[in-house]
Amino acid sequence: MTTPSPVVVLGVTGGIAACKAAELCSLLAKKEFEVHVIMTGNALRFVGELTFRTLSRNPVVTSLWERPQWQPEHVALASRASLFVVAPATANFIAKMACGIADDALSTFAATYSGPTVVAPAMNPAMWAHPACRRNVAELVSRGVIFCGPETGHVACGPDGTGRMAEPEKILSSLPGL
Ligand SMILES: Cc1cc2nc3c(=O)[nH]c(=O)nc-3n(C[C@H](O)[C@H](O)[C@H](O)COP(=O)(O)O)c2cc1C
Repeated sequence: MTTPSPVVVLGVTGGIAACKAAELCSLLAKKEFEVHVIMTGNALRFVGELTFRTLSRNPVVTSLWERPQWQPEHVALASRASLFVVAPATANFIAKMACGIADDALSTFAATYSGPTVVAPAMNPAMWAHPACRRNVAELVSRGVIFCGPETGHVACGPDGTGRMAEPEKILSSLPGL
């Protein structure tokens, strides 16, 4: 009898670094995880769900209202997942996680799941430095959420600074248990 692969949920939110999440998805799948991707509506503006469906070899959840099983997907996945990775994590999504807001598939999953979580932020340096973001990050750290990055360097949307998403290999090596 074969041991089932651990289930990882990869949350992808709406920033330019969403394209780098495709590489992370591929690395997770190669690590023998069962990968399930949940994308926000704004993530879909940056990269198509077909990319993640192909790399994860699983259907991608993009709406709270898709019901392939009798249970809503966020509940079904929250009970099966042993790891949650958000990459890239927008300032908006970090704020929603910190407050427990559940208004789309990904934030509702985050509000249901309570296991190990790794967040890889990516945003403009001014957003990362903003007191609201600092408070939200501190709240999540106090709950045991692991932050990987952001890194300092070139950012797509303005002057260089701290806000660049960590490289997929680095996010992979930050996952607990790996
Ligand atoms: C071209 C473009 C790039 C963006 N990049 C980022 C980003 O890297 N990080 C971020 O926090 N927000 C970024 N935003 C803003 C988010 O898309 C916006 O806050 C959105 O509400 C996030 O939605 P989500 O968190 O549900 O995916 C960007 C917006 C645009 C138009």
